[in-house]
Amino acid sequence: MDDGRHLVLVGMMGVGKSSVGRRAALRLGRQFIDTDKLVEEEAGCSVAEIFATEGEAAFRVLENAAVRRALESEPWAVIAFGGGAVLEPTNRGLARECALVVWLQAPARELARRVSASLRRSGGAGRPLLAQGRSPEQVLDEIARAREDAYKATAHVLVDTAGRSPSQAATAVLIATGWSPE
Ligand code: S3P
Repeated sequence: MDDGRHLVLVGMMGVGKSSVGRRAALRLGRQFIDTDKLVEEEAGCSVAEIFATEGEAAFRVLENAAVRRALESEPWAVIAFGGGAVLEPTNRGLARECALVVWLQAPARELARRVSASLRRSGGAGRPLLAQGRSPEQVLDEIARAREDAYKATAHVLVDTAGRSPSQAATAVLIATGWSPE
């Protein structure tokens, strides 16, 4: 079944939007779009470099444009929003209007576990909001609480990814959205 809308994944960094989204896209025969990647293509440098040289506000401007481009793209795709894309009310409205939006959730402890490997690999540069010398779990918990209302206002469906592999979470997404039989 395909209801003729984009499938958008929102949620905190580390929850697995890209790994789950890629798998869901493969199973639906759709292209996968990651708004962070669109930003990087447009800017010609990494998200971490944009944060470092131009700051978060400049990144959000690029991110808003990337969200619009992704939602306006054809054919229907699976789109992973950057974790903070829901902070912009226009993004929330557009996403609800022209997509089925799934909020992927996991406890901060699990998010911290999942991002720690990539943090180690990048020396903290991969996820600029976490590269502040504080406990990732604490920072992730604070950000998640601050954004809870924005995620709630954007999403049509909530999927708990705790204890699930990306493949299992993708199956849960497809079942929760009615795209795949139970
Ligand atoms: C951010 C999440 C990141 C990236 C940027 C800011 C956020 O994307 O957009 O570092 O504000 O939560 P992921 O959610 O894909 O890690």
